Amino acid sequence: MENFDFHVTTDIRFGKDRLDELPQVLNNFGKNVLLVYGGGSIKKNGLYDKLYELFNQNDNNVVELAGVDPNPRIETVQKGVQLCKENAIDVVLPVGGGSVIDCSKAVAACVFVSGDLWENFVLQKNYKGPALPIVTILTLAATGSEMNGTCVISNMDAQIKLGVHGTTNLLPKVSFLDPTNTFSVGAYQTAAGSADILSHLMENYFNATEGTEVQDEIAEGLMKTVIKYLPVALDEPDNYTARANLMWASTLALNGLVGKGKKGSWSCHAMEHELSAFYDITHGVGLAMLTPRWMAHILDEDTLPKLQRFAEEVWNVKEKEPKRTAEIGIQKLYDFFVSCHIPMTLPEVGIQTEENFEEMGQRAVAHSSISNQGFVPLHEDDVVSIYREC
Ligand code: NZQ
Ligand code: ZN
Repeated sequence: MENFDFHVTTDIRFGKDRLDELPQVLNNFGKNVLLVYGGGSIKKNGLYDKLYELFNQNDNNVVELAGVDPNPRIETVQKGVQLCKENAIDVVLPVGGGSVIDCSKAVAACVFVSGDLWENFVLQKNYKGPALPIVTILTLAATGSEMNGTCVISNMDAQIKLGVHGTTNLLPKVSFLDPTNTFSVGAYQTAAGSADILSHLMENYFNATEGTEVQDEIAEGLMKTVIKYLPVALDEPDNYTARANLMWASTLALNGLVGKGKKGSWSCHAMEHELSAFYDITHGVGLAMLTPRWMAHILDEDTLPKLQRFAEEVWNVKEKEPKRTAEIGIQKLYDFFVSCHIPMTLPEVGIQTEENFEEMGQRAVAHSSISNQGFVPLHEDDVVSIYREC
């Protein structure tokens, strides 16, 4: 295991009926609130009205940044920064999924960034400066953004989607995790979100660092939890136990718990970010498609032990021959995604031709360290082959 720091300061308020705690939380930072949300799901499920009742009782001055797109754009970040400056915002309050939270993190930081925000914030990839305080209300179990210091922002004109990593500055101060707020998430986003959770766990699990038994056993347990409860949430969208377990799994999958102490970069996320940047597809769907193909592509003598363990521990495969065991595990992952109605081919999400594959392969390598630090290093031709398998 490698040396690491683990200092995740987000105050988690997990469970139902806890929104009454919001005014007091906001008052720790000030009265002027930037409320950030997406395309309107919070209006349909009643959360928006509940929030305004609390804002009114608490004499908050609320300014809205609405309409944050899935795969949030740099233009929306610019708009949010302007609102913060014009209204002396004290605290940023994203209410939504990863896109809304990520956009809010970028806004909170970029208030302190001068000049071109794409150039001086996103392209820098790491941010050590100050940020406005962020309080989140999570409505979709997926990214883990509610308890990490990362935000992922897109520039659709340049077809580039990049992650920016902060320190404690970009960590939400407080995150409200009420599973009932995810009852209204439709089947497609529920499945895509869970595919993202599984991907975060798998990206951390398949790593060359030896001796990380704590992280690996926790990851296996979280993967089994998602595999158990996603079908339940799809059948019964308001099953509290299923939604609660998916929500907490999403947070733990990417708050450092299973990733610290390991080195190296993730492979499928780098490939997926190019798919989203070129074709604006749903992040979790891209990951679901890529991951089993990536596993099949890298299966060899060196990777066999971990893929065999994945098959045995996560999928309960009982087979004598190691390679066959690994292959059955990969197939089970694929079949699980199919059973959750996730589109598993690129044409199903509207990508009909290979015309951009080479450029996307070059960029996946250029935008990440997959060619020298992955579980198995991937070069441009590997990436193109994996896209072709999808
Ligand atoms: O926009 P609204 O109307 O809210 O609808 C959203 C959106 O259409 C809907 N939704 C969210 N909560 C809902 C709901 N619909 C009904 N009821 C609710 N309670 O779901 C759709 C997708 O939302 P989005 O926020 O885009 O999904 P997700 O949470 O999967 O976030 C994806 C973004 O996060 C980035 C991804 O790349 C992508 O841009 N990631 C962020 C990471 C991080 N910060 O650490 C890591 C991840 O690997 C990922 O890259
Ligand atoms: Zn992800």
